[in-house]
Amino acid sequence: MSKKLWGTRFAKKTSTLTDRFTSSISFDKKLAKYDILGSIAHAKMLGVQRIIPVKEAALIVKGLKFILRDVIRRKIKFDPQAEDIHSNIQDLLLKKIGKVANKLHTARSRNDQIALDVKMYIKDEIKELVDLLALLQKSILKLANNNSKVIIPGYTHLQIAQCVLLAHHLLAYIESLERDKTRLLDAKERADLMPLGSCALSGTSLPIDRDFVRKELRFRGVTANSIDSVSDRDYILEILADLSILSVHLSRIAEDLILWSTKEFNFIDIDFSFCTGSSIMPHKKNPDVLELIRGCVGKIQGDFSSVLILMKGLPLSYNRDMQLDKPPLFNAIDTVKDILQILEAVFENIIIEKEAISAKISDESLFSVDIVEYLIKRSVSYRDAHDIVGRIIRDCLDKGKNISGLTNQELRRYSPKLSSDVKKILNAQESVNLKASYGGTNPKFVNNQLNNWKKRLNA
Ligand code: ARG
Repeated sequence: MSKKLWGTRFAKKTSTLTDRFTSSISFDKKLAKYDILGSIAHAKMLGVQRIIPVKEAALIVKGLKFILRDVIRRKIKFDPQAEDIHSNIQDLLLKKIGKVANKLHTARSRNDQIALDVKMYIKDEIKELVDLLALLQKSILKLANNNSKVIIPGYTHLQIAQCVLLAHHLLAYIESLERDKTRLLDAKERADLMPLGSCALSGTSLPIDRDFVRKELRFRGVTANSIDSVSDRDYILEILADLSILSVHLSRIAEDLILWSTKEFNFIDIDFSFCTGSSIMPHKKNPDVLELIRGCVGKIQGDFSSVLILMKGLPLSYNRDMQLDKPPLFNAIDTVKDILQILEAVFENIIIEKEAISAKISDESLFSVDIVEYLIKRSVSYRDAHDIVGRIIRDCLDKGKNISGLTNQELRRYSPKLSSDVKKILNAQESVNLKASYGGTNPKFVNNQLNNWKKRLNA
């Protein structure tokens, strides 16, 4: 078992129950790499500042690099009985280089050390998340691009609404994922202040050089208040908030795909490799991957609220409660990374059921707004136009007729401004072509957007 960093003052050994209850090594071993990198920078600084002899600093750095190599090669067995990752690495160093190792923790506390480790971890993970988000965006863009002419019925309230280009709908996903990227990068910016040197909470009387450590570890600045540095967990809350919002997007995308793959919609086919069958119903092909994506989102949002609740009302500065921020943080990040990868693969293999879709866009109620706007362009007020079209639709439904089946005379009975040329706009292509507003579903505009995204995502 690794030696406690604080045992001497204790008149008695801690209970094994206490050891087990307080230990965090089972999860904070994930931070090993960052703990060592932070320690290397710290040891170098101690040498440069002559707080410890240069030679000893060099020996510590050499020992740490050795341990780091083993960590990266996954050759290290962490001690399940260690109190935390900091004690475990300290102990490994002691075994490697002997008593000099005991100088490493000079002018440092685990309070500023853990803040540093987590910030470094989060900065790296945000880079990875942003890259994975870009890959997912690219696979969605590819599907949009390969099906740029397909028109689908758009929905509001999950009721058939108006025609839109499939590509337009898919580009909506790309927009939301882009906001997720910028939110994460924004959080990274604020997390990018180096806390080491705050020590327990008040700083140190030893002549440390925090800026040296900052440069070594590539932070953009150092934190300005030692108390805040060891109390603050905003960087964890922020990434969890951002992942919660991102996961809302992922769940909505998953839900669309689930709906679209049903027999009732039949807009898409999800590849067999991302579905499962039923043990009793031989005909089934279930979208379990997408359902689990939808389900995981609950866990991620739970992770965010668990850290929010953990932090609420804690007195400044450091409290051990804060150790519990890590499992939800790690879970949320790992889960989102898994989802981004599998969703990208799902999109790569989606087949668009063009024929089935084209059968769905003949429903003339999809064009009701187009007829309203036809009348408005002929000087009918919006309110009157809405009433006129409402009456036409009600009558057609009652009599089991289509609007396109009405004669010129029948149409004129509803409004003198209506004539059979209105029938020219009763089709999906005309409906999308007519849209003229920026951001709308006009094919020219959507094509521009496709090209813009191609440039942006390949840049
Ligand atoms: N395991 C602790 C955490 O995750 C590290 C800091 C412990 N500090 C302390 N004084 N016990 O927060």
